[in-house]
Amino acid sequence: MIRLDDVEAHPSSSETMEPPLIVIENLEPITEWVLLEYEHDSKIAMGNIIFTNADDKRLERLGKVYRESFTEVVEPDKTIILDPSANQPLRTEDFDRYRYFVIGGICGDSPPKNRTKDLVSSRLPEAERRNLGKKQLTTDSAVLMVMLVYTGERIEDIEVTDSVEERYSEDEATVLPVGYIILEEKVILTPGLIDLLIRKRRKTDAVF
Ligand SMILES: C[S@@+](CC[C@H](N)C(=O)[O-])C[C@H]1O[C@@H](n2cnc3c(N)ncnc32)[C@H](O)[C@@H]1O
Repeated sequence: MIRLDDVEAHPSSSETMEPPLIVIENLEPITEWVLLEYEHDSKIAMGNIIFTNADDKRLERLGKVYRESFTEVVEPDKTIILDPSANQPLRTEDFDRYRYFVIGGICGDSPPKNRTKDLVSSRLPEAERRNLGKKQLTTDSAVLMVMLVYTGERIEDIEVTDSVEERYSEDEATVLPVGYIILEEKVILTPGLIDLLIRKRRKTDAVF
């Protein structure tokens, strides 16, 4: 069984591997929700993270921030773009050769619209592309999946939700149609997300 602690306690399946550098190419306005995910990204990546195409002081405590796009920051021949439309899955051996692991700072779509391909992969065709399984993951779940593969796990062995439902009452619920990783039978949700959803719902109640 895989535990979240394993990601932190055993950051490498091989003592010689350099820790991966997670690159988040920011492509959306940084809302409270996006910021919560980015905070979680930084924690999971243990600070080995940079934010590109971003100009926001709130990100400076999470990692290095570049106004430039990732295309100007990474070394293309050492880069893997995590793209749901890629044919090959990410494997632990990839960490021997590649240093930069680019994740789109793109919100989930239902159904998915291949935006990673259009907005990220197509801009650096020299880079390799890998998938993280068949389900559309949130950015923080994608970072966690990358780190689990880094520790030696296979994507196929990691359980992922189809969607998550936050139920407020018998007739009210919010459904998040994206994949979250399940470790030790616990869904690894973005810390603070449930509180945010509850607050948003109260605001809606106040208006109507
Ligand atoms: C919420 S997803 C956005 C996906 C976007 N709606 C699309 O259609 O491509 C955010 C990012 O996480 C990464 N990601 C999520 N699921 C993935 C998967 N199954 N395989 C590879 N990368 C994934 C990608 O880098 C993606 O840009």
